[in-house]
Amino acid sequence: MDFPSPKSNIEKLQTYKPNFGKSKINNLIRLSANESALGVSLGVTDALKSLTNSLNRYPPQVSDELISAISKRYSLNKKKIILGNGSDELISILAQTFLNSDDEAIYTEFGFLQFPQAISIVGAKGVIAKDVKFTANVDNILSKITKKTKLIFLANPNNPTGSFIPKEEVIRLHKSIPANILLIYDAAYSEFVVNTDYIDGSELVDKFENIIMLRTFSKLHGLASLRLGWGYASEKIIQNLMKVRGPFSVNTAAIVAGIAALEDLEFQKKSVQHNLKWKLWFEKKFQLLNLEFQPSIANFFLIKFPNEAKYNAQKAESFLASNGILVRGMKVYGLSNYLRISIGNEEENIKFINKLKIFLEN
Ligand SMILES: Cc1ncc(COP(=O)(O)O)c(C=O)c1O
Repeated sequence: MDFPSPKSNIEKLQTYKPNFGKSKINNLIRLSANESALGVSLGVTDALKSLTNSLNRYPPQVSDELISAISKRYSLNKKKIILGNGSDELISILAQTFLNSDDEAIYTEFGFLQFPQAISIVGAKGVIAKDVKFTANVDNILSKITKKTKLIFLANPNNPTGSFIPKEEVIRLHKSIPANILLIYDAAYSEFVVNTDYIDGSELVDKFENIIMLRTFSKLHGLASLRLGWGYASEKIIQNLMKVRGPFSVNTAAIVAGIAALEDLEFQKKSVQHNLKWKLWFEKKFQLLNLEFQPSIANFFLIKFPNEAKYNAQKAESFLASNGILVRGMKVYGLSNYLRISIGNEEENIKFINKLKIFLEN
């Protein structure tokens, strides 16, 4: 029987599954999605209260107010900023804007899963560059470039590994790629980074046409539910992306909340300090529990479990879930011995480590 069939590449594709974990327990501790440990700024909550009198109105296609606030907060050129419905949307429209079906796009072995998803949706070919020690490797990325390469996706810091490549390696990568290849530099977790050898990519965008920096309000600013991300690139790239982006994809609540979040420097500072403090605490605890972990510059850790029937990662994930704690299984990345855990608030972190201890000691 005839039926409306989707394009063959879509038919073959699996739906992206965020996998926040499951548990029957109420009052869950969710350490599975790298969300803000401290919630949101009170300024955001207050700003959202004023929303009710404009719910019948479409949002502006481009919010000059939010763009100005981003430009002021991060000292960037207003004309080079694009807003999106989460940086996920920007990743998708970058693939739609730049990839023909016979083009190739490179992404890293343990890179963010939305990259291959966006590439497959447009029917282009994704090419994997192997990591070295769970870290993106510039030589491996460069070795994958062919005449068909149009895009290179690099998350720095990377999710789920928490690793990063330093400034000089980012510059070497950018210098070595031909001018017709666009480097998509996803700096979603950059606000948590304090390492002096890290760059968020904006200085390269100010000098070159073939790089876009992606950022999000979902992590440090705690606005994951409102879906707000932004990109920074040449005006020409922004203009082309705007042809593809939905006209009203950034809603009024996100705009209002985004502006308020940027104003609250205290909340941002507190969140970064909280993250640094608990990152050190977790490192010590993992060492005491004899668990291997990847050093992380972001707000989460990738930890390795023994490949033993009793203490493996799946068993740990189920045990934690049965105790109301959700963590992220890593099977989809081919890392079945690993779990990713986000840094939560004080109470969540302590409960998580206590339960993990019980699991490993029984
Ligand atoms: C590396 C990376 N990029 C982008 C995103 C998506 O962020 P958003 O919530 O803005 O779509 C995430 C979310 O987990 C991420 O880890």
